[in-house]
Amino acid sequence: MGRLLVRDLRQVVSPAGKRAPLRGGALRDVDVLENAYVLCDGARIEAVGRMRDLRLDREVEELDGRGLCAAPGLVDCHTHAAFAGDRVDEFSLRAGGASYEELHAAGGGILSTVAATRAAGEAGLTQAVERHRDWLLRAGTTTWESKSGYGLDRETELASLRAIRAAGGIPTWLGAHALPPERADAAAYLDFALAEVLPEAAGIAEAADVFLERGAFDAQQARRYLEACRSRGLSLRLHGDQFSEAGAIPLAIELGARSVDHLEATGAEGVSELAASEVVGVLLPASALFLGRPMPPARALVDAGAAVALATDFNPGSAFGESLPLVCSLAATQLKLSPAEALGACTVNAAFVLGRAAVKGRLAAGFDADLCLLDAPDWRYLAYHLGGHDVTAVIQAGAVAWSRAAY
Ligand code: NIG
Ligand code: FE
Repeated sequence: MGRLLVRDLRQVVSPAGKRAPLRGGALRDVDVLENAYVLCDGARIEAVGRMRDLRLDREVEELDGRGLCAAPGLVDCHTHAAFAGDRVDEFSLRAGGASYEELHAAGGGILSTVAATRAAGEAGLTQAVERHRDWLLRAGTTTWESKSGYGLDRETELASLRAIRAAGGIPTWLGAHALPPERADAAAYLDFALAEVLPEAAGIAEAADVFLERGAFDAQQARRYLEACRSRGLSLRLHGDQFSEAGAIPLAIELGARSVDHLEATGAEGVSELAASEVVGVLLPASALFLGRPMPPARALVDAGAAVALATDFNPGSAFGESLPLVCSLAATQLKLSPAEALGACTVNAAFVLGRAAVKGRLAAGFDADLCLLDAPDWRYLAYHLGGHDVTAVIQAGAVAWSRAAY
């Protein structure tokens, strides 16, 4: 594989320093180089610098970056991309006043996607995940995690994890997402999932996740599921404090989870507990917006010293949107995070949640050559341009993976 020089860029932006995760004031620090280049050698970045300092000893392929800003390829550390069908009918009902939790309790919601996903078969599901992957890519996302969780039977859970991996995603086994219709109770379902699905899921997935919430799984059931997954070598994630505080933060801390995600219902005590821990708080403002829920206490978390990441939560029910740039806009307007804090949260800190902060989330020598190119006069358009389409090309592993115009 050859070398690729992206030259004459208006700006190159990257979270400053080398540490991960970034907390407190360190999340605000970005390095911005004007009139700059990024030189890729195969799948790695060889150098980043100012055009006036560029010295080329060998021939390279060149890409004209005039008028563009380069940011690290965005990292989406929380999606549910392994689904078939849609929930457009439910969306319309919600617009008329029906609540997400009521629809779920009545057997709709997540379970309607479970029915569609089971019916799709592995080929249909693989096609769906690839389509969702392409949407993510066009929004500037080069690294993405996706959960299973719409199968809830052995065959479809494993097919979901395989489809995510085949499409280039990082699979998380969300075996405890909801109780499937054919199982009598949560204990019986967990007996099945841990005995029949976990042994094989642990060979495909990198992490395990649980929906700890009233109407889903309680803290005791979540503990049982997560401990079993941890003993098979999976790292741990939790959906917690989405509608109610049901013990997700203390459990995440006790079990050494990578993250606890949502936090729309987190109060002051949860904020200080999380801030004093190693667990990352993953904020999903598009989900709060889509469901008309309160926003998570992002400013309080960052100011208290918690490590926070931003993600889309892309899924058909609570957040049908794949755009991290839109999430950055919501972070700035709703969560009161600066564009720099938003950038750090969906690059370095998201990469940390996925165990990849040494190679993803920064534009610096030695990092993976994943770039998001913005057709904008300033990199902060990433957050400033609400619903904008400034991402004009995406470089992944040193090659153009998508571009609006033909390069
Ligand atoms: O993160 N809260 C649980 N799971 C997903 C939504 C799943 C769905 O509605 O299909 C979430 O919001
Ligand atoms: Fe989610």
